[in-house]
Amino acid sequence: MPVVAIIGAQWGDEGKGKVVDMLAEKSSMVVRFAGGDNAGHTVINPMGLFKLHLIPSGIFYPNVTCVIGNGVVVNPRSLIAELDMLAGKGVDTRRLVISDRAHLIMPYHTLLDELEEKSRGKKAIGTTLRGIGPAFTDKTARMGIRVGDLLDKRSLKHRIKTVLENKNVILERIYGAPPLDCEEMYAEYAGYADKLKPFIKDSVELISSAMERQELVLLEGAQGAMLDPDFGTYPFATSSSPLSGNASLGSGVAPNRIDRVLGIYKAYCTRVGSGPLPTELNDEMGDRIREVAQEFGTTTGRPRRCGWFDGVAARFSAHVNGFTGAVITRVDVFDNFPSLKVCVAYRIGEKEISYFPSSISELEKCQPVYEELPGWQADTTGVRKWEDLPKEARNYVTRLSQLMGCPVNLASIGPERAQTIEVSPIF
Ligand code: IMP
Repeated sequence: MPVVAIIGAQWGDEGKGKVVDMLAEKSSMVVRFAGGDNAGHTVINPMGLFKLHLIPSGIFYPNVTCVIGNGVVVNPRSLIAELDMLAGKGVDTRRLVISDRAHLIMPYHTLLDELEEKSRGKKAIGTTLRGIGPAFTDKTARMGIRVGDLLDKRSLKHRIKTVLENKNVILERIYGAPPLDCEEMYAEYAGYADKLKPFIKDSVELISSAMERQELVLLEGAQGAMLDPDFGTYPFATSSSPLSGNASLGSGVAPNRIDRVLGIYKAYCTRVGSGPLPTELNDEMGDRIREVAQEFGTTTGRPRRCGWFDGVAARFSAHVNGFTGAVITRVDVFDNFPSLKVCVAYRIGEKEISYFPSSISELEKCQPVYEELPGWQADTTGVRKWEDLPKEARNYVTRLSQLMGCPVNLASIGPERAQTIEVSPIF
């Protein structure tokens, strides 16, 4: 059985949680490989409605081991709250594994995220304020504290003391904020260590033995490709790579062992936080999409910015990720729209371009060139077969596939597992 990476193809919130929850049925392992509790994966299944931030969306199956991979930054407080929430709803979480190589989000990370955002004023990124940027900065700067450090309390205390000496200088001298107390932080994290110890393991061996047994392993992404620090709308980006390349780095599965890369696209575009969204609709149509689709952030509750499907960004995303196939989610949102637009190119002044510019100032000048397609004005939520979808809905999905330059494997027409239509086989 193969290894399949599941990647957010736009600006996040494409519905990866539903796809992972669905595909996990046949898998033995789901590995989250990037981000932290900035992510919000909504899963609706026979056990209820769940909003997951850190725990992989395969946790609902008794046969699936769920790994928080080395590429994730873990806020232990959020993780414990999530474990308690799941236990309260009767979900068995004993098959959770946290990589000892994953980094910890510390109290100074969340504090610095907030202080940095405030200091940016009108140029704020609109982060989730979960400490993600500062935690990945520390990882790269070799100042991070890893999940594995929780297993040795003496060295944990020493590490907190050393790092805090540096952080307190920044807090006091740059931001005029009060310093943080080492003993208090150690006591808090020692408490987390006691709770999380049973889950902390070397995940690399575990994943490779599942692969050796020929079991299906899913690599679950977070955020979306257009928030990538290299290929997204930098600096309006997140701080770990949501791309398929990082599915390898963030899990320890070598690139040549990943058999399929599935790009998850919504039938339209959304974005939370600041930064370019070329097809954004600041009008009644944008409000209508937001209302019909209930586009409000899972993690922060913020209203999401909405716009038509962006074929230029979609093609770029398919290219940098190497998608072998795509899933189009939320097709049903358009059930009552008389006509739909898709962006097929950008116009800057007199010039038409078909590439996704790297510079923010160029992106801000881009005007979408639209193609209009007829709507289907019929309820698709009960459809289960591709050929039973209205012709206009099939044409819409087919057009998106042409623009992305990769086949569509699945189309989703509602939040439930069963509300999924196979367009072409994944394998
Ligand atoms: P950060 O990841 O909290 O640093 O936020 C950086 C940017 O990424 C902000 O615009 C966030 O709104 C956005 N972002 C982070 N996580 C998600 C997500 O899971 N879905 C959508 N946007 C996200």
